[in-house]
Amino acid sequence: MDSNSITITDHRTGKQYDIPVEDDNIRAKALKQIKVHPEDFGMMTYDPAFLNTASCRSAITFIDGDKGILRYRGYPIEELAEKCTFLEVAHLLLNGELPPQEDLSAWVTRVKRHTMLHETTKKFLEGFRYNAHPMGMLISTVAALSTVYPDAKHVHDPVIRSRHIVRLIAKMPTICAYCYRHQFGLPYVYPDNDLSYTANFMNMMWKMVEPKYVADPTLARVLDILFILHADHEQNCSTNTMRCIGSALADPYVSVAGAAAALSGPLHGGANEEVLKMLDEIGEKTAIPAYIERVKKGEVKLMGFGHRVYKNYDPRARIIKWAADRVFEVTGHNNRIEMALELERIALSDDYFIERKLYPNVDFYSGIIYQAMGFRPDIFTVLFAIPRVVGWLAQWQEMLLDPEQKIARPRQVYTGEGERHFVPIEERSPAQTVKA
Ligand code: CMC
Repeated sequence: MDSNSITITDHRTGKQYDIPVEDDNIRAKALKQIKVHPEDFGMMTYDPAFLNTASCRSAITFIDGDKGILRYRGYPIEELAEKCTFLEVAHLLLNGELPPQEDLSAWVTRVKRHTMLHETTKKFLEGFRYNAHPMGMLISTVAALSTVYPDAKHVHDPVIRSRHIVRLIAKMPTICAYCYRHQFGLPYVYPDNDLSYTANFMNMMWKMVEPKYVADPTLARVLDILFILHADHEQNCSTNTMRCIGSALADPYVSVAGAAAALSGPLHGGANEEVLKMLDEIGEKTAIPAYIERVKKGEVKLMGFGHRVYKNYDPRARIIKWAADRVFEVTGHNNRIEMALELERIALSDDYFIERKLYPNVDFYSGIIYQAMGFRPDIFTVLFAIPRVVGWLAQWQEMLLDPEQKIARPRQVYTGEGERHFVPIEERSPAQTVKA
């Protein structure tokens, strides 16, 4: 018997099965041989919400949720946030290595060359109502780019794939800024390629009549760090969506639009906007204990707390707390941070949160910084999507190059009716009426 295996005894039949262990896991398909009758489908695993199922092998991001560790391509997130630029990290995530200076310069130039949007895309944006939520605008506009670049469907061509990866990374800040300016009827500002990735984004967001917008260097750097922290997070809901859509060989624009739609949910990237709403609802520090009681009764959730993978402090939240101090040195004090710190203090000393290992996640502090920098809450999730597009594309490319991957198609455990036959309408009883 292979020592690197487990033995399963099926007490229904008395049969034993040796299941090989690879990387400390078993392949779900190895269970299919376990049957009572030869015509059975065979044993599956049932795992709603993928609590304990690996859907891929990946070399991009490593998380140890119990220890609070996050690494991109082996590098600790703390080192990357301190020493790199966002585009340097984007290169790392996509290509596996930190680039030497010459390659980095060429990469940055390549991205900058693609920052403009086709003029028809600008017109498309004008069709939205003035109060359209920026995430809806972003999702639709990214999907619409699929019509501008029809060759993007050749997903197995490495040259074409690389071109569209660069286009998406380059155009995300432009789309985001245009969504924002559309809400206020402000003229769109064209990209300025003299500026860094984040300074150019701030220029497109906030330039008014001055001949040259000058972003505060501290704020531009903090935004760059925030983008690094949000760039990838292995198989989360939106990345899984990206891989799933991409597995049908859809083009990267519609795949990213789908991933962004998943991100927009309040349990995922939409949580940063919800944290600010929650702090507003609580109103003042003295109201925090009563709010915590409501959380414990299950009436509301503490937004920005808890994580499927982290059962320890989210390392990104720790860096964001540090970045918040840098921002407040420029923008002046913000009493929301006091509220958030007090909320965290009370929650982390309460048994409800201790027993469930609920800690602040990346979204708890990010919204507070974004707001202090001048971003409106409804754009926060778009600010999450700009850097996350790098992770989505890195994971999408890895999926396409993985010979084991096929179209994603989970199984189900059917719980509905057995076979039954058509009943004419005049013979149906009220109990048979489907309630829509
Ligand atoms: N407030 C109060 N209770 C919570 C919270 C919370 N934020 N999160 C989890 N719990 C409780 C939950 O009710 C459950 O309690 P019980 O065992 O008594 O039923 C227990 O903790 C385990 O939670 P779960 O729902 O099984 O955990 P999950 O892994 O399915 O959900 C989560 C993870 C992030 C969706 C959830 O923690 C949550 O809804 N948090 C608030 C939304 C949020 O901040 N989302 C951002 C996530 S980080 C950024 C990103 O990836 O997008």
